Formats: sequence, structure tokens, C-alpha cells
Amino acid sequence: MVDLVSQYEKIQNEINTAVLNVIRSAAYINGPEVKSFQSELESYLDVKHVVPCGNGTDALQIAMMALGLKPGDEVITANFTFVATAEVIALLQLTPVLVDVDPDTFNIDVEAIRAAITPKTKAIVPVHLFGQTAPMEEIMALAKEHNLYVIEDNAQAIGADYTFSDGRKVKAGTIGDVGATSFFPSKNLGCYGDGGAIFTNNDAIAENLRVIANHGQTRQYYHDKIGVNSRLDSIQAAILRIKLRHLDEYAAARNRAAEFYDNAFKDIKGIKTPARFKQSNHVFHQYTLVLDGIDRNALREYLMERDVPAMIYYPVPLHLQKAYRDERYTDGDFPVTESLCENVLSLPMQTELSDEQLTYITETLISFIKNTK
Ligand SMILES: Cc1ncc(COP(=O)(O)O)c(C=O)c1O
Repeated sequence: MVDLVSQYEKIQNEINTAVLNVIRSAAYINGPEVKSFQSELESYLDVKHVVPCGNGTDALQIAMMALGLKPGDEVITANFTFVATAEVIALLQLTPVLVDVDPDTFNIDVEAIRAAITPKTKAIVPVHLFGQTAPMEEIMALAKEHNLYVIEDNAQAIGADYTFSDGRKVKAGTIGDVGATSFFPSKNLGCYGDGGAIFTNNDAIAENLRVIANHGQTRQYYHDKIGVNSRLDSIQAAILRIKLRHLDEYAAARNRAAEFYDNAFKDIKGIKTPARFKQSNHVFHQYTLVLDGIDRNALREYLMERDVPAMIYYPVPLHLQKAYRDERYTDGDFPVTESLCENVLSLPMQTELSDEQLTYITETLISFIKNTK
């Protein structure tokens, strides 16, 4: 799905030098590269605080701990997402409250959030799925009305802009109380291992995030809170500093590939190409089709046999996953999520797709549809 080697080859001189410099410096943990990356990401996102950490799952967990959420508190999130979002809610013994998503943007449905709010609700976790921002203006208004925290799961949309109705433009992940992201290698800003970060404009929350990510330590060997050990390696920070400089150009390359796909599929019956949400630009972490009347398994097999990778993000809604089944939910409760899980198919999406590759992918897919008519 992602050609990370070709991407690396274009920046290998810079990367190799940066990695070797870290090795020679011996500043492997919390070294100057981490500090520089932190401040460069703060400038890029125009956010007051970036707290680097070990991965995107930790970022979400540390955010929830820093906000003081307590066992039994309800946290509303989208059912159609990667498991990490609900996993950390459950791990902290908070109650995940799942809601359905919009069939066009795949992002959390604001009316479904409204309907799920109870006196126990303490936070909303919108996920900016596949590279587009959730409807943050409406979510922030709802959160304000009910005095709820908002934690943005921005693992898939770093670099996306959200435009408010008054024209104000901000980066995804900097709108809620806290934003969390992942630098997993295949993410839009990916390192060469695990990595993550948490963002906030609130000084007190930032201090809590830093303390919790570092064993709850306020000064060395003095632990005021129960924390975790979650750090971004200096080597990964050095790699991320270089890749951050290319992030907008990477988003443009992804958009070019998306437009190629859109044009190729525009007259093909049974294929719905990704909708663009007017308040967000799209950074295309994934390019996801919704199939109608097409045998997805047969199509996927046909593509794979011809060396075209295609993935199902996500095959099972959270409420039907064994670990997350509970008596509150049953089959049919989330019609949009359930239907998407049955009908979505993601095509290769990355920064290095050539016109030749895109032509091959689209022609292969279209040939399946023509042959099975
Ligand atoms: C929506 C979402 N949330 C959270 C995560 C967790 O990130 P990580 O794999 O870095 O823990 C991911 C990525 O895998 C994700 O896609």
C-alpha cells in the first residue's frame, strides 16, 4: 500500500547524515533533536505545546489521563475507526460510548454525538479519519454546551486544515483541548519506527501531559502522579524533522493520486469515490472507495493477484469486535458503520505513485468490473 523505500531514497543523504549524527552524539533519549522537532512541529501546527511521546496510542492515553478522566466517565467516539481510539478508553476503565458516522465523509456524526450525551459524559474523541477533519465547529459548540473535553484523534490527518465558518483556518489536532497523533511509518508524517505526539494550547494541560508521559515525574525521582514511560527516540525525531519539511509536498502528491483515481472512476457504476468535506482539505491518508453491488472479496482477490494491494479499513465495527461487545449494543445499531465495514476498499495511497502505476491500478480495477458484468 505504501512505498516507503522510494520515498526514503529521495531524502536518503539528509536522513543518513541526521541518523549518524544522533548515533555519534549519544543523546539517544530526549536529546536536542527531540527538542528541535518539538518546536518545529509547534510552528508548523501553530500550536503552543507539542509533547512528543512513544506512539499514537500512548498519545491518546496520556491525553485522557492528563484531563483527569476517571473510571466510569463516558467518552464518546466514532465506531468506525482503528481500535486504538476505543482501546485506551477501555484500558483507563472509562466507558467508551460508540456513535455512528457520516456515510460520505466517514467522520463522526454530530447528531449521533448529541443523542449519546448523558450526565456521565466527560469527553468526545472525534477521529479525523482517512485524512479529513471531523466537523469540529459543531463538535466544539456541543462540547461547550455540555462542558465536555474534546480530544482529537489526529493520527490520520496531520497537516490538514480546518476552516471555521468565519474563515479562520487552523490545523487539525489543534482545535480541541488536546490533539493526539501517530508517527507510525505509513502515516502521512511517519518515522522509521514508532512515534507519537500530543498537542495543546493550554499551559496547565501541557504540563500534565509532560509529567504523565515521563513517569509522573515533576523533578527527577519525585513522582507526583502515576504516569507512563512514553518517549520519542532522538533518531526518530531527527528523521521526523526532515520529513516535516516535506509534509505539504507529500500531501500534494497524495492529492494528485486521489484526483487521478477520481477521474478514472467517475463514470464507473457501483464505485463511490471519497467525498470532500467542505470545511477541511483532504490529506488522503487513505483513498477509500465505497462499493455498491460489486463483490468486494472477489475484486480484492483479483487486484491482489495482479499485484495491486487493496485493504479493508476497517472490516469489523468496534461494537462487533469480541473485546468490545457489551450488552448496550447489538447488530444493526450502527447502520452506517456496519454498511461501510462491508463495502469499503482502500487503494494504494502514498507519495510515490507514478502515472504509470496509477494507470495500471485503475485499469485493473475497471477491467474487473467490465469482466464481471
Ligand atoms: C485513528 C488512529 N488512532 C490511533 C492510532 C494509533 O497510533 P499508533 O499505531 O502510533 O499507536 C492509529 C494508527 O495506527 C490510528 O489510525
